[in-house]
Amino acid sequence: MKLSKEQSEQFDRDGYLFFPSLFTPAEVKVLLNEVPALYAQRRAENVREKGSDAVRTNFAAHMYNLQFAKLARHPRMVEPIVQLFGEAVYMHQFKVNGKLAFDGDVWQWHQDYGTWKNDDQMPEPRAMNVAIFLGEVNEFNGPLMFIPGSHKLGVLDAQHDTATTSYPLWTINHDTIRKLVERGGIVAPKGPAGSMILFHSCLVHASNCNLSPWDRINVYLSLCAVSNHIRRFKRPEYIAHRDFTPIECLPDDCLVKDYDVPLPWKDGTPEAALKPLAAA
Ligand code: SIN
Ligand code: MN
Repeated sequence: MKLSKEQSEQFDRDGYLFFPSLFTPAEVKVLLNEVPALYAQRRAENVREKGSDAVRTNFAAHMYNLQFAKLARHPRMVEPIVQLFGEAVYMHQFKVNGKLAFDGDVWQWHQDYGTWKNDDQMPEPRAMNVAIFLGEVNEFNGPLMFIPGSHKLGVLDAQHDTATTSYPLWTINHDTIRKLVERGGIVAPKGPAGSMILFHSCLVHASNCNLSPWDRINVYLSLCAVSNHIRRFKRPEYIAHRDFTPIECLPDDCLVKDYDVPLPWKDGTPEAALKPLAAA
């Protein structure tokens, strides 16, 4: 999939692009069918909501689940990113976020690149975030909210919040958010299962809790330009990957046909990938 000149300009201006229904219902079903078994596993990669057993985020499914491993190599997702960066990319982070009905908690206002720079020593914001909806995203189930144009401001001051939710995050203070919203407003792309968003790693974003009876399950993939690979391995490998091999795309029908892909963590995550590298 190639981006038009207008789409590249829009990405540069707003910091995101929205592709409603990019994946078909049959393709999405293949992925959604895997989620209950994924979330039922008792492993470090499943981070649960504070005070509940509901999974907030599942890490690195592409290392141990065949269907998500195929998604990680999907040309409709990878090709536009290679086009924007002008070089090959590797998978920096892979998450299946379940903002589950009634239990799904907030994600505070933040930029992803702040964490990648501070924790992982990623040199530049040359990593792209992708969100793929596995179910409908509507105004009630906690859509992702963006402040358009906020990516132009580079890395903003942030505080490490380890208390509000079950997942620590570098969050941006309310005064800054107020000012950013005055100039850029807030948008929340909503749409059917199979929709995809590409968003800049400096774009300020957040999401509300899900008080609706509908799950909001999104896959988030973060693909980094190979030359911009992380320099520090302070976080466990299942959160910030250390294999910088360029992604090789599968054919476009990979979600509905059989293809062989490696699943290196199929029989369990290696001990070394569960902890920071010594001396990092
Ligand atoms: C994120 O920002 O990493 C997740 C946000 C969400 O799932 O709504
Ligand atoms: Mn984020």
